[in-house]
Amino acid sequence: MRHFLSTTDLHADDLSDILQLADSFSEVLSRDIPKVPALRGKTVVLAFFEDSTRTRTSFDLAARRLSADVVNFSASSSSTKKGESLRDTIQTIDAMGVDGIVLRHGSSGTPSQIVPWTSAAVVNAGDGWHAHPSQALLDCYTITQHRQRNGQIGRRLDGMRIAICGDVNHSRVARSNVDAFTKLGAEVILVGPQTLMPASLEGWPVTAVSDLDEVIGDLDAIYLLRIQNERLEGPLLPSNREYRRRFGLTAERLVDLKPDAMILHPGPMNRGVELDPEAADDPRAVVTNQVASGVPIRMAILYRCLGLGKFPTPGLQETIDEDPR
Ligand code: CP
Repeated sequence: MRHFLSTTDLHADDLSDILQLADSFSEVLSRDIPKVPALRGKTVVLAFFEDSTRTRTSFDLAARRLSADVVNFSASSSSTKKGESLRDTIQTIDAMGVDGIVLRHGSSGTPSQIVPWTSAAVVNAGDGWHAHPSQALLDCYTITQHRQRNGQIGRRLDGMRIAICGDVNHSRVARSNVDAFTKLGAEVILVGPQTLMPASLEGWPVTAVSDLDEVIGDLDAIYLLRIQNERLEGPLLPSNREYRRRFGLTAERLVDLKPDAMILHPGPMNRGVELDPEAADDPRAVVTNQVASGVPIRMAILYRCLGLGKFPTPGLQETIDEDPR
């Protein structure tokens, strides 16, 4: 795995292997010194052309936990503001001799576009409406960890019925999660207003409904998508209040959800729109677990791209057993 661009490049076994590798790094993170020398001497640039809290911070932590040197590049305080092109920016970063570029960009396809412009491994940290593959993997990891705590061992989602609810059309998270969840064996149901669904679902391995109450009682997990006001053009929703009434996980709907169902949200949450505060704080919500999963999953991704690459990873045990000091 040289670059990490989309889950669609990966087979189910690749996804399971990354989840397994994340288990090794979770163990590292539980140590007194949560750091290993696996990427010592490597340099990772976090090139974020769009705002981020979770993804940027957890890739930063993940790289440092692997002993890589980390450079933070922020478009808002760079020569991009003076009109420098993306190609010139990437080639400038590349000329300094870096091993990995973690890229977030508002335009779909940008990570694969920059691959020919750099000798570094390119990791997609979210591009436009297209893909957010590390989010999908950390969501799969969160679900499998939750199932393991309930005695269901394994790195697959067989037999699960998962609803992805909300603004599917503008969501890179939805596209990557549909792909990852179904590859790992889950059934996925899309729920949302017609105006926020893709024009065609041809080729999507899903069913779609426009009534949350029709399916909520049969779900093993509900994945609430953020209403992306910054991407909505025109009057696609009557109002956030109306959206909440029809598609929000309200306090009233919580009673219909199975006692062991999971509530997921990629963040940032709009409390009172996609979900009520009671749902965000419900014991079935695993939103903070999702954030916590980000670090070991992104360690696994960086290790796969910048480390030894193959799985099982020869030498991994030696590097994670070595003293990082
Ligand atoms: N889920 C997610 O991508 O969050 P950030 O935009 O904060 O990185």
